[in-house]
Amino acid sequence: MKQKSFYIKTFGCQINVHDSEQIAELLIRQGLKPVKDAKRADLIIVNTCSIREKAEQKAISEAGKLLKRAKPGLIMGIGGCMAQKEGSRLLRKLNGLDFVFGTQAIGRVPDLVRRVQEGADFIVDTSLNGNAESIGILAIPGQKTSAFVSIMQGCDNYCAFCVVPYLRGREISRDMQGVLDEIRSLAGNGIREVTLLGQNVNSYGKSFGREGGFSALLRQIGQIDGIERVRFTTSHPKDLAEDIMFCFAEIENLCEHIHLPVQSGADRVLEKMNRRYTSGDYLAKVEKLREICPGICITTDIIVGFPGETEEDFEKTLELMRKIHFDGAFSFKYSDRPGTAAEKLEGKISDSVKGRRLKVLQALQDMHTLERNRELEGGIQQVIVEGASKNSGSDMMGRTRTNRIVNFPAEPHLIGSTVSVRITQAYLHSLRGEMLSEREVFQCCCK
Ligand code: 5AD
Ligand code: SF4
Repeated sequence: MKQKSFYIKTFGCQINVHDSEQIAELLIRQGLKPVKDAKRADLIIVNTCSIREKAEQKAISEAGKLLKRAKPGLIMGIGGCMAQKEGSRLLRKLNGLDFVFGTQAIGRVPDLVRRVQEGADFIVDTSLNGNAESIGILAIPGQKTSAFVSIMQGCDNYCAFCVVPYLRGREISRDMQGVLDEIRSLAGNGIREVTLLGQNVNSYGKSFGREGGFSALLRQIGQIDGIERVRFTTSHPKDLAEDIMFCFAEIENLCEHIHLPVQSGADRVLEKMNRRYTSGDYLAKVEKLREICPGICITTDIIVGFPGETEEDFEKTLELMRKIHFDGAFSFKYSDRPGTAAEKLEGKISDSVKGRRLKVLQALQDMHTLERNRELEGGIQQVIVEGASKNSGSDMMGRTRTNRIVNFPAEPHLIGSTVSVRITQAYLHSLRGEMLSEREVFQCCCK
């Protein structure tokens, strides 16, 4: 391969971030070198997201800008969900594009690059044949202490608003041995925290007929030496069975955090969304989780302005939020996605109403987030130090087991280690703290 350097721009979720890590790994294996400055790259890959219309516009505009500033002779490929959706239509939108690869073509990227170098004209590789071979590519983590591990691909749930099942294919779980081998190998390379990825990790194992597969997997990972923290994302509430909930109490390295998208608090809307649970079912699961694992951090996703959502429905969402007091929430205005069931529904909500509802909801959530963070003031948290803090040159930043950011004065040599930090001040997006002295740590452990 003649190409010397490459640059990858990633949009979207953690699954995309990990897909990009895997592409980078494959390109490095072919002798290419990653560069941080796109202008110096011989090959640029843009990994796109399609979840909302805004995400697509951002990716197209960024790809256009990268093409304008690029070196002569540059090769550019576009991948990810928008590439899967648009295929050859991208050729009309982006002059100078060389290839498009879909969500199941990651393993073939080096081959596509080679074909372009050999003179192939525009190539489109977007077949969705359920091929899961790329899922297990052992990727270089972007970070020293933590890594993503894909445990499944695709989604069979067909939530009415969501385009993912059309773009990432059927749900396929990776074999358990492959997952465990990958995590052991990461641990052997100094990784201490893994985040298991899938559109709905709670149903891990279903595609090979294993009931309770996810809790069995978590228990196995719980035995792997060197792995201090295990996280997972994302969970579908309908598949959050009790055996999974009990893992939070029983498995030491499983972090006390669950991201559990509720989407709406109104049963009428949940039904139209095809979520297959009620707000009562959701609340009962939250209560059970808190009973099994007091202090568990629960975050969520909420959509406002789903077609037909009335003021009363919206009020029900706020009501559920007031009952639960989520630790954090990502909230979105509903965005029509081509081909989905919701696209065909009547009762579309105007942008101004969606905007107003989003503002009200976010103000309420900010209050709850701050309140939850304040509950940690005065307490001690175990923090893995990740690097320098963005706020101050003399501070380091790290994360608690519940994934909250903590800034505190410390020396850079502590990067990568686990330290005990007393929380002195809570903010909306982070915590501030001070490290315990060795004597304090000793007293704290012997209490
Ligand atoms: N419009 C708005 N938000 C959406 N999400 C998924 N599809 C849409 C859409 N069409 C949100 C959901 C999901 C998160 C990843 O993105 O809340 O959980
Ligand atoms: Fe989309 Fe629903 Fe699948 Fe999540 S579970 S990826 S929201 S269809």
